[in-house]
Amino acid sequence: MYRMSEKPLITADKIRERVATLAREIVDVYDYDILLSALTGAYMFTADLSREIANAQGAKAPHKRIAFIKASSYGDSTESSGKLQVQGLERIPLQGKKVLMVDDIADTGTTLLGLTDMLNEAGSKEVRTCVLLNKQERREVEIKADFVGFEIANEFVVGYGLDYANEYRTLPEIWTLQEAD
Ligand code: IMP
Ligand code: MG
Repeated sequence: MYRMSEKPLITADKIRERVATLAREIVDVYDYDILLSALTGAYMFTADLSREIANAQGAKAPHKRIAFIKASSYGDSTESSGKLQVQGLERIPLQGKKVLMVDDIADTGTTLLGLTDMLNEAGSKEVRTCVLLNKQERREVEIKADFVGFEIANEFVVGYGLDYANEYRTLPEIWTLQEAD
């Protein structure tokens, strides 16, 4: 059994502030063609980030594209199965495109590395990665996200799109999930 922490690890206000500054950091250095988001975990982050990015892009904003893929490596547990499954990538024209790959969290790094490899194989001109959360301590493969919202400790977190067995996703804050007896 698991239960939520008593207070959020990151409040909705803090998320809002950081997403806005993160969007600025991205726009300042990366004029990408397409934002590619990994469902389902990144859905809420992607909606907020893409809106802030558009605000920061000004006249370039109407020409930027967005697309979604479904990436999964987790079953109904807090441990990654280590096997990455990706759906919907073949429908997205990536040849010669500069891609901003957005995911909710980099944990072992398997998902981000796997996605980056696939995007390169699909002919992308450049791939840079953005995650809301980074758990550096858990890294098992060598990949560094180019843009990171928050560095967090080795704890399982839920909310703001992140789930445990498909629950907790719709919460506006990020919470820690603790083992309860
Ligand atoms: P990785 O491949 O091990 O880096 O795991 C990345 C994926 O696992 C993310 O896209 C999430 O869907 C999921 N994940 C990793 N850590 C957490 C967590 O603390 N809470 C919820 N989902 C997580
Ligand atoms: Mg995910």
